[in-house]
Amino acid sequence: MIRFQLNGAAVSTNSPSETPLLWVVRDELKHKGTKFGCGIAMCGACTVHINGEALRSCITPVSAVAGKDVTTIEGLTSPAGKALQQAWVDEQVPQCGYCQSGQIMQAASLLESNPSPSDGEIKQAMNGNLCRCMAYTRIHKAIKSAAKS
Ligand code: FES
Ligand code: FES
Repeated sequence: MIRFQLNGAAVSTNSPSETPLLWVVRDELKHKGTKFGCGIAMCGACTVHINGEALRSCITPVSAVAGKDVTTIEGLTSPAGKALQQAWVDEQVPQCGYCQSGQIMQAASLLESNPSPSDGEIKQAMNGNLCRCMAYTRIHKAIKSAAKS
C-alpha cells in the first residue's frame, strides 16, 4: 500500500507502484480537476504540486509520492493560488477550460518561488503548458495581475 497526503488529507492506494499518479488521483480518489492531455509530459494539463513543486502527474509513478504532499487544483488554497484563481476570473481566461487547472498549478508554483516574475520568467515557466484554445495572452495577463495583488 502506498500512502500520501492529497490536499491535506491522508490517502492510500493499492495500485501497482508504477501506476501514474494521474490515474490514482482521478480514477481512484475522484479528484477530477487534474486533466489528461498527452500522457507523455508534453502538454501540462496534468500538472500538480508534489511537495510544492509543479510536476506532471501523467509520468509520475504513484510510488514516487509515498509520504509526500500532493496538491491538485481542488486544494490550491495558498495566497498565490487564490490570487491566481481570482485573476483567472477577472481576466476571463478560459475558453474550453481543459488546460486551465494545469496552467494555474504551474503559475502558482512560479509565484510561490518568484512573487514578482518578469515577462520573460513567466514565458519560460509556462512554456510547457499548452492551450489549444490559444488563451496564452490572457493567461500571461492574469499571472501578471495575480503577482501585482
Ligand atoms: S497529460 Fe501530462 S503533460 Fe500532458
Ligand atoms: S482553454 Fe481550451 S485548451 Fe486551454
